[in-house]
Amino acid sequence: MERKGSSMFATKIGAILAAAGSAVGLGNIWRFPTETGTNGGAAFILIYVLFMILFGVPIMVTEFAVGRYGNKDVTHSFLTMSDGKKWWKYMGLMPVVAGFLVLSYYAVVAGWTLYYAVVAALDGFSGKEPHEYSEFFSSFASDEVKPIVWLVVVVMFTAAIVALGVRRGIERGARIMMPLLFVFIVVLVVCSMTLPGASQGVDFLLRPDFSKVNGATVLSAMGQAFFSLSVGICCLCTYACYFRKDVNLIHDGLSVAIIDTLVALMAGFIIFPAVYSIPGLSPDAGPSLVFVTLPNVFQHAFGDVVWLSYIFSVLFYLLLVMAALTSSISMLEMIVAFFHEEYRASRPLVAVLSSVACICLGALCSLSFGSLSDVTLFGMTIFDFCDFLVAKLLMPAGSLLICVFAGWVVKRDNMYAELTNGGVVNRYVFPVYYAIIRYVAPIGILLIFFNGLGLV
Ligand code: PFF
Repeated sequence: MERKGSSMFATKIGAILAAAGSAVGLGNIWRFPTETGTNGGAAFILIYVLFMILFGVPIMVTEFAVGRYGNKDVTHSFLTMSDGKKWWKYMGLMPVVAGFLVLSYYAVVAGWTLYYAVVAALDGFSGKEPHEYSEFFSSFASDEVKPIVWLVVVVMFTAAIVALGVRRGIERGARIMMPLLFVFIVVLVVCSMTLPGASQGVDFLLRPDFSKVNGATVLSAMGQAFFSLSVGICCLCTYACYFRKDVNLIHDGLSVAIIDTLVALMAGFIIFPAVYSIPGLSPDAGPSLVFVTLPNVFQHAFGDVVWLSYIFSVLFYLLLVMAALTSSISMLEMIVAFFHEEYRASRPLVAVLSSVACICLGALCSLSFGSLSDVTLFGMTIFDFCDFLVAKLLMPAGSLLICVFAGWVVKRDNMYAELTNGGVVNRYVFPVYYAIIRYVAPIGILLIFFNGLGLV
């Protein structure tokens, strides 16, 4: 059955921006610099880009095809495309569970970014000594109440947009936030590249150091590519059921991947030159890079030009907030679409109930920086465990699942019809795509996965 107008993206550009909104997020601006910084810079980036092209784009395009063909939430799409095999419908539940997990811990960091944007806007970072930024961050993140309040604000805002629906909420949100995000990022790159010592940061980003590369680095690069493109959790599968039939899925997949990679690289060109502009700071500070190192950098990098420091930090944290919101919207939409279509529940009701569940799990993740810091699962805090589970296990596993599904379960003719829009576009690219999905990607994912976990 054809969807009603308001439950589809109105325009092709709206569809690309929404999918790019899902892809561009904290993964690009917070996780990518962190991973790059701790895994040896350019060598890591090269492997990451390779995974984007070889595995990321084909898997993303597959999610698009399954979603648009199924024309319903993820479990139904699996059911329809497998010609009614119930077992595949249950497999489609895995992404829904993964969506809960990812939103819960993602929203914690999104809450931090919102708090930092507010503090930056109130000029709360100026005049601090370098060590005070770290104390500021640890006392905030380990607080029992404050980060949870910001987590609730982020999740409720996300729920409000999702409740408004596909066209009025998600598409309109993406059409406003994504262009703003690009403007902010370009302004910030220009400012950062003019800082003294910027060339050292550029060098770090562009000169590969392969001595730091091992199995774990390769798994991290693959995890980062999947995380950054939002593949393996089927958010894009859900978005694709709102795509019009004339959308060229391979073209859109490539556009999203290019936008996503550009934003990640530009985030690197903002952060590393800035870090190297202050002697003694290191690019491998890990997750605290954005919340401890950068506020310090922003205050000191521009010398006496205080207003520039102010603008730089406000824009940077607003950039993070918008990027985080467009991604969390896609995570919640996948969950809401499932309950809405499976149980015929109203979108606003499901949006609120799912948000409450995410807030509860998110609160546990948040407390793992404070009173629950000694609660560990497999040697990791609750937050780190969720990140590990999502980026290193569930996303690769989900990606493997979708490759096996599209390559071996779904009829080739159905994939062909969906990806070529009935034989009109991409006819020559399809065989290459199909070989990757059937053989290269599943074997590659399995090998890297076991190698990264130290099993082969
Ligand atoms: N791609 C998003 C980012 O880079 O921040 C994160 C993400 C969104 C992961 C949606 C998973 C997902 F399903």
